[in-house]
Amino acid sequence: MELEKVIDENRQGEALLVPGQEGQRKLFLESYGCQMNFSDSEIVASILGQDGFATTKDYREADVIFINTCAIRENAEQRVRNRLNEFKSWKSHKPDLIVGVLGCMAERLKEKFLEEEKIVDIVVGPDAYRDLPQLIGKVQGGHKAVNVILSKEETYADITPVRLDSNGVTAFISIMRGCDNMCSFCVVPFTRGRERSRDPESIVKEAKELFDLGYREVTLLGQNVDSYLWAGGGLKKEILTEEQRAHAVNFAQLLERVALVSPDLRIRFSTSHPKDMTDEVLHTMAKYNNICKYIHLPVQSGSSRMLDIMNRGYDREWYMDRIRAIRRIIPECGISSDIITGFCTEAEEDHQDTLSLMEWSEYDFSYMFAYSERPKTQAARKFTDDVPEEIKKRRLSEVIALQQKLSEKKTKAQVGKVHRVLVEHESKKSDEMWMGRNTQNTVVVFPKEHFKPGDYADVLVERCTATTLIGKAVKN
Ligand code: 5AD
Ligand code: SF4
Repeated sequence: MELEKVIDENRQGEALLVPGQEGQRKLFLESYGCQMNFSDSEIVASILGQDGFATTKDYREADVIFINTCAIRENAEQRVRNRLNEFKSWKSHKPDLIVGVLGCMAERLKEKFLEEEKIVDIVVGPDAYRDLPQLIGKVQGGHKAVNVILSKEETYADITPVRLDSNGVTAFISIMRGCDNMCSFCVVPFTRGRERSRDPESIVKEAKELFDLGYREVTLLGQNVDSYLWAGGGLKKEILTEEQRAHAVNFAQLLERVALVSPDLRIRFSTSHPKDMTDEVLHTMAKYNNICKYIHLPVQSGSSRMLDIMNRGYDREWYMDRIRAIRRIIPECGISSDIITGFCTEAEEDHQDTLSLMEWSEYDFSYMFAYSERPKTQAARKFTDDVPEEIKKRRLSEVIALQQKLSEKKTKAQVGKVHRVLVEHESKKSDEMWMGRNTQNTVVVFPKEHFKPGDYADVLVERCTATTLIGKAVKN
């Protein structure tokens, strides 16, 4: 799930807002976890918007509270439980309030959620959001409601997401759902079901509509975007004839179609999988200026032995070959990773392999985690979670310290250069500065002058902090 890599930790638990009209029923929607969850919440808001709901930022105003949950690690679930606890006393003041849980934790726990957390009235998995109005009706009729059916077809292709809490410049487009990879540590295949790709026509249409509305950057989302393949409605990848496969749209071709919407629309995507990332994708990125030169390519571990028991489908050498291909075809490309420390049987030697591969890969950025055993996964069934917690944590801190050093070096190397920046919003630190990103996804801050969100500015970087570039716009 490299999907979660898409995580923006700052957005954890953020409430989402679409203004409503007097008298409308009100929905408070809070999302946790990966970008896919945030994107799904926009589909939920759309479905419930059609049913007469407006969203609110204040849960005390809400008739319905939904939490879109994450199950990737134990602590993600704990955060959701804590939040539900906070809603408990409020519900005792407002007995008609409906509280629902959506997403991965809902799918994992199913009906058990109702027993474990008495405050919960509705449990809905990621493929059942079309059923939400009906489920709310059921609760109003005095029953609890559950729909956790996973689908092999659902992509919500026809639903126009309601852009929640948007800056009006950047947006997510979900291009596929589910994951067929079965990495041994990962719960996602159980919570999001089988992989399915969305019709490219509907993806390009969504990108065009966003561009016409003034958006200037779209991020194409999928658990493993490199395995995107569209051969026509209902045609499953596994059973394609050679001819059907030859005519199918792959990820490189989809990228190209979206890049052609407008040279002023930036394209990002996440997450890439080292076993599936092709040179064709890299050449397409190199060919189009508006496809951002940034790849999130999670390695998970630098040890081939660990990668094997993680069931990742590649080894250290293969991964290094993919990094070399990126450096050869797109020399300026930013690269980030996900790393897990303390997976089952991980020895000091394996950990050293991770550190050395990080140094070699020179990541700009990494998301780093201590291994957390998840029920039902292959690792939970077949291996022992045998690395003591303090060792997991010590290795994690070593990995974090190394990444910090690598990030600083990368950031410093950008000083003195001119970067094309898409303006997103006001800098959090100063109302006289804009915040945007360069193509490599590094944050750049510079004085506002005449620029506005959605503009491109060429910024000469004069100094930096560990992760932010600071400079001023230059004349073209
Ligand atoms: N424990 C720790 N980290 C995990 N991830 C996925 N499953 C687990 C787990 N059980 C990490 C992986 C993945 C990212 C989204 O979360 O690094 O790429
Ligand atoms: Fe990513 Fe592997 Fe989990 Fe799929 S199974 S979501 S590829 S970590």
